[in-house]
Amino acid sequence: MAPKSIATLTKLPFLFLLVIFASSQAYEYQFIETNMTLNFQEYYAGPNATVNTLTGIPGNDWAFDSFGTTYVVDDPITQSLDKNSSEIARGQGIYMTSSLDGANMQVLISIVFTSNEYNGSTLEIQGRSLQAANVREVSVVGGTEIFKFARGIAKFETLNVDTSTFYALVQCDLTVLHY
Ligand SMILES: *[C@@H]1O[C@H](CO)[C@@H](O)[C@H](O)[C@H]1NC(C)=O
Ligand SMILES: *[C@@H]1O[C@H](CO)[C@@H](O)[C@H](O)[C@H]1NC(C)=O
Ligand SMILES: *[C@@H]1O[C@H](CO)[C@@H](O)[C@H](O)[C@H]1NC(C)=O
Ligand SMILES: *[C@@H]1O[C@H](CO)[C@@H](O)[C@H](O)[C@H]1NC(C)=O
Repeated sequence: MAPKSIATLTKLPFLFLLVIFASSQAYEYQFIETNMTLNFQEYYAGPNATVNTLTGIPGNDWAFDSFGTTYVVDDPITQSLDKNSSEIARGQGIYMTSSLDGANMQVLISIVFTSNEYNGSTLEIQGRSLQAANVREVSVVGGTEIFKFARGIAKFETLNVDTSTFYALVQCDLTVLHY
């Protein structure tokens, strides 16, 4: 064997590792586009609150417009506006006021489908929500099952707030590309 071949052989273990850790393939899948409108039925206080303050910066106000305030959320999600209509998903995750001026919130929400054709699938929403905006656009960064490899856009709009029952109706218009 020529010395050149020996040099090639010594590279083999490295190449072999590459094959183990990463492989790629060209697919010809088409993205499917799915649009849907979901309604988050949120109770921000009271005995059955679905969003609760988790923590904040010691010495600061713990409020939605105060840097660092962090909430945990598990909202029922319905297809129709009616809060008594049957649940099709839960909106579970974290909100955190993430700009020093208190204007922006970081949203980390899983939409966990619990019935109908998407039952068992999830969508991941993550990004900056400009709290004062009427319509708050946040990215869809992933999903599971039916929504594998999802990406898209979620537009949130607060349609109704009832301060007597601590209730807020937040509509979410989703456009999602997935396989
Ligand atoms: C989904 O909504 C987007 C934005 O409104 C629109 O451009 C698109 O045609 C809709 N797609 C379907 C499949 O309805
Ligand atoms: C909270 O939930 C419980 C159990 O579902 C229910 O009995 C109660 O009426 C609810 N309270 C309010 C204020 O909605
Ligand atoms: C929803 O249910 C509550 C309690 O069961 C009831 O008081 C209320 O009128 C219902 N709302 C609607 C829009 O049906
Ligand atoms: C949703 O899926 C779960 C797990 O597969 C199942 O237990 C449940 O009955 C389903 N719910 C509905 C409403 O179809």
